[in-house]
Amino acid sequence: MNSLYETLLHEYGSPLYIYDQATLEATIQRITRAVPYPRTQFHFASVTNGNLALLQIFRQHGWGLHANTPGDVVLGLQAGFAPEQIVYSGSNLSREEMRQMLDWRIGTLNLDSLSQLETLCAVYQSDSTPRLGFRLNLPEITGDNRIGVSADELLKAGPLAARVGLKVSGIHFYRGTGTNVTTAFTDSIARVIEVGQSLPDWEYLDFGGGFGYPYREGQVGFSWEEFGAELSQQLLQFDRPINLIIEPGRAAVAQCGTLLARVVSVKWQGAKQIVGLDTSVANIAVLSVHGGTRRIRALNDTGTELSGTDLCGNTTYSRDYLGRNCQLPKLNIGDIVTIQDVGAYGYAMASHFLHRPRPAEVLIENGTHRLIRRRENYQVLLEQQI
Ligand SMILES: Cc1ncc(COP(=O)(O)O)c(C=O)c1O
Repeated sequence: MNSLYETLLHEYGSPLYIYDQATLEATIQRITRAVPYPRTQFHFASVTNGNLALLQIFRQHGWGLHANTPGDVVLGLQAGFAPEQIVYSGSNLSREEMRQMLDWRIGTLNLDSLSQLETLCAVYQSDSTPRLGFRLNLPEITGDNRIGVSADELLKAGPLAARVGLKVSGIHFYRGTGTNVTTAFTDSIARVIEVGQSLPDWEYLDFGGGFGYPYREGQVGFSWEEFGAELSQQLLQFDRPINLIIEPGRAAVAQCGTLLARVVSVKWQGAKQIVGLDTSVANIAVLSVHGGTRRIRALNDTGTELSGTDLCGNTTYSRDYLGRNCQLPKLNIGDIVTIQDVGAYGYAMASHFLHRPRPAEVLIENGTHRLIRRRENYQVLLEQQI
């Protein structure tokens, strides 16, 4: 692995996002197999990673796309998804954006409020008819949460939509982001189905989103098998043929991504090793900024274990730590450090904060590698300025 990483950094520069196709495909297959319910369709939530090459891998495996925003739709269409393979469940679209969704002929629209339904009705023309559903707000399960409509509001939606000839046929439930406790999902199923049954034209259930990934060493992760078996069993219990949508983001794509960086400086404060890397928190969502924890490894052969290494970014921003108190060996300038499991909310959350151009992205497939997004240069900081 060490020599592969050396080759990649030599060829594409550092820091570098790399994605392993075999790992991604194994995850897609494991998740797909875990839900035996026959009317299931998976949609990859591209909020987590919008690289077209990865979206195409999901498409090739029979998944559709889940869009949080119109930008997700643009990426999905460009990656070759047909409009009817796209499920949108976002919030707060302007009239123009709602009209755009209709013009794109997106297959399924899950709205967040009756107010958004009014917007939809105002711009709707019968030339394209999406499957229409609502995001549920069930405070008894998810607590205080801004998203969705109450079970009572859901019942008002049908008659409002009927005025323009639309039918409300779906419910969408999002349990909460990054949840590894499987029972948090399985315990919600009965209540969600109960709300669905109150909908006269109920045809589909979209169960999110939100499935966790075990970032920490030894952590027990969300069980797809347990969840898939329980949800399938409960849906098979009644005769109504409900279509099931599952839209994983993080759980599908986190593991396949790694950020490679090089050590550019080493200093000591007493027994603590302070390592400077050629990346920063603007390249990656990390503990000090976004609350995430990632496994970090250093690739060198000194074999010495040290307690207390702080990995710092290449800025003076006070929270620019990629890792604190890491157990890492003595490092030298030029050593490679890997930040693992960053396929989700990694590049997608990278920004121009701190005014460094963003890294390149590379896909490793069948023993070869190819550039799937070019490294930015300083021009990107200037090109929209007037
Ligand atoms: C409606 C919806 N579905 C899916 C996702 C992807 O979620 P996750 O990465 O938690 O699976 C999100 C994330 O914001 C979301 O809002």
